[in-house]
Amino acid sequence: MEDDLYAENILDHYNNPRNFGIPKKFDLNQQEINPLCGDEINIYLTLDNKKIKDIKFSGSGCAISQASASIISEHIKGKEINEVKSYGKEDILNLLGISIGPVRLKCALLSLKAIQKSIQKSENESNIKN
Ligand code: FES
Repeated sequence: MEDDLYAENILDHYNNPRNFGIPKKFDLNQQEINPLCGDEINIYLTLDNKKIKDIKFSGSGCAISQASASIISEHIKGKEINEVKSYGKEDILNLLGISIGPVRLKCALLSLKAIQKSIQKSENESNIKN
């Protein structure tokens, strides 16, 4: 029963993705592709000091990858960058609320990977500049 509710939530996010689109302005952008299937996610982050001020995403792929991007985008808006950097597999599975096998795990984590890579890249760049 509870599983059904979570599955419904995933389908809802897949059919009506939140924060979907390409913004005119953003600070960080990263594309991530699942090599197993070619599905992709692009994320666009706007930062405000040490927080994620806004996030948008675009891309196409399976229900889990797209719904997961939508759910994560809602969750991380306004969060500290450091907190988002620390997220791992368990945090995302808790957010999604469904049990996922190893193959689908790549789908579920695609957007988190893009988000964390974009932050990592910008931190590396600012280290080089400093
Ligand atoms: Fe491609 Fe899920 S099957 S990301």
